[in-house]
Amino acid sequence: MNPILVIGGTGTVGRQVLSRLAASGAQVRALARNPGEACLPPQVEVVRGDLVLPETLDGCLDGIDTVFLVWTAPAAAVAPALERIAKHARRIVFLSAPIKTAHPLFQQPNPGREVVEQIERLIETSGLQ
Ligand SMILES: NC(=O)c1ccc[n+]([C@@H]2O[C@H](COP(=O)([O-])OP(=O)(O)OC[C@H]3O[C@@H](n4cnc5c(N)ncnc54)[C@H](OP(=O)(O)O)[C@@H]3O)[C@@H](O)[C@H]2O)c1
Repeated sequence: MNPILVIGGTGTVGRQVLSRLAASGAQVRALARNPGEACLPPQVEVVRGDLVLPETLDGCLDGIDTVFLVWTAPAAAVAPALERIAKHARRIVFLSAPIKTAHPLFQQPNPGREVVEQIERLIETSGLQ
């Protein structure tokens, strides 16, 4: 099985995902802006990349079928990054937010919601699983 790429793997959620995938025997790779500061378990391959620099993503995505995506980068970087991911991977798992929950609490407009909607829309139309 090819490695699974975790984007956001140095953060709160991604770090847990990496640890659990590695513990289950999966090969895992983390994309990190500063690999030297990643402090991840030794079985995690750490590759330098930055979501706002799409040309850095191809190397991180080389040989990858599946991506776990945590997004906290600026909205302007969404489309170019998703385009690169869709070129290499066939499956994506996105840590989204409950924007489709009907309760008014989850229907308030905010900039974060717009980014999540954009990412979900691009994933749905990308052909990725
Ligand atoms: N925390 C939760 O319980 C939770 C639950 C549901 C949904 N979410 C959603 O998940 C996101 C936050 O997750 P989190 O709490 O795990 O975030 P976090 O701890 O703030 O970590 C953010 C991650 O994104 C990486 N990152 C930021 N900018 C980047 C860039 N330009 N290129 C590449 N990587 C970049 C950071 O890497 P660096 O090491 O380079 O900084 C870090 O690994 C939000 O969208 C939130 O809505 C979070």
